[in-house]
Parts: sequence; structure tokens; C-alpha cells
Amino acid sequence: MRIFLDTANLEEIRTAVRWGVCAGVTTNPTLYAKESASGVSYRERVVAIAELVGGHVSAECVSRTADDLVEEARAIASWHPNVVVKIPADEAGIEAIHRVSAEGIRVNTTLIFSVNQALLVANAGAAFVSPFVGRLDDIDHDGTDLVRETVELLDRYHMPTQVIAASIRGPRHVTAAAAAGAHIATVPFKVLRQMLQHPLTDRGIAAFLADWERAQTAVGR
Ligand code: G3P
Repeated sequence: MRIFLDTANLEEIRTAVRWGVCAGVTTNPTLYAKESASGVSYRERVVAIAELVGGHVSAECVSRTADDLVEEARAIASWHPNVVVKIPADEAGIEAIHRVSAEGIRVNTTLIFSVNQALLVANAGAAFVSPFVGRLDDIDHDGTDLVRETVELLDRYHMPTQVIAASIRGPRHVTAAAAAGAHIATVPFKVLRQMLQHPLTDRGIAAFLADWERAQTAVGR
């Protein structure tokens, strides 16, 4: 399973790129709003991200009719060759997904909360579907079940649409998404850090360093 960063923050992306674990980035209006104090436009930020990461960068449409979504998707897709357009899974969205996918624009369908939504937009031509794990867990549904069932169904019918586990809230969600067969998990930077952290690793490093110092003293260096 590949790891994407779910952020619009350049410092977080630079760090994950240095670690060699940032295969792509997903953004949305909420994540961009956190960065908007810098005065940068959404387009400028998405292009800056695309220049930092080798892979796909999702940028979200905000239009509310199919015609407007198509126009917006075309504009967003022209920002950078690695940009993938995010469109929500509603009636205007599925029509727009179908129309722009036919033109070769890759779409990441966002706000997926059911297998049927995923199945429909995959048939319409979506390159990616993003089931929202954490938001389903929030309302006492199992978000990981949705990831697993979506992967199984798309696989059974040999559909090329890839599954991005989104709305990831902690390291257990990442493990569960991988076990469920997600192609990609898009994770906040905080979760990426938590995935690496382990108290026994920290304790082990401290013990090895202390023993190293003791050995150096013993041999007189
Ligand atoms: O990729 C979508 C994700 O950013 C949503 O996460 O935590 O707002 O449900 P969250």
C-alpha cells in the first residue's frame, strides 16, 4: 500500500519526501483553509506541492453543477501534469466524473461512504475512490469494512479504479486499510509521525548509546 500525505502544508510534505514515504498528496478546501493565512492561492499551493512530490496531487472542485464541475475540473487538471481532480460522489459529481474521465482527466472521487457510491463512480470512469474511514467510524459504522468491501468488489469485477483510504485518524486506521487491501492510504502528517514512533525504539536507542559511551570509557577513548 502506498502512502499519500493528506495536507496542504509544504513543510510537512518536505519532511515526508525526505523520509521517502510520500507517494502523493491529497488536499481539500478544509486543508487549504488552514494554509490560506499565507495569502497563497489554491492553484499556487497545489502547483508548489506538485513540484515537491513525484506523484499524484489531488485538488478539489467546489462547483455545484455538472457543467461547472466539468469546467473547473478541466482548469484544475491543466495546473500540473500530476494533478488529479477531486469531485464528490453526488449526482452532479458523477455526471462530471463521466464527462471529464472520457477526456482523460483522472478523477479521485471524494466523500465516498458506501460501496454503491464507489461502484457507480467506478463505472462512470473514476480513476480513484476515497472512502472516508474516520467519518464513518465517527457515526458508529465501520469505515474499514467499507474499504475492504470496496476493494473486494472492484477486484472481483476487474475494475481498474484504485481505492484511497481517506479520513485516516490514527495509526490503527493505516494498518487496517493495508489489511483491507487499500491501494493507497492518505494520512495526516501527525499520523505519519505516530506510525514511526515506538517507546521501545526510543528506549533501545538510549540504552545502546549509554552502553557505547561506557565501552568507550572502558577502552580509554
Ligand atoms: O482526505 C479526506 C480527509 O482529509 C478527511 O479527513 O479527518 O476531515 O475526516 P477528516
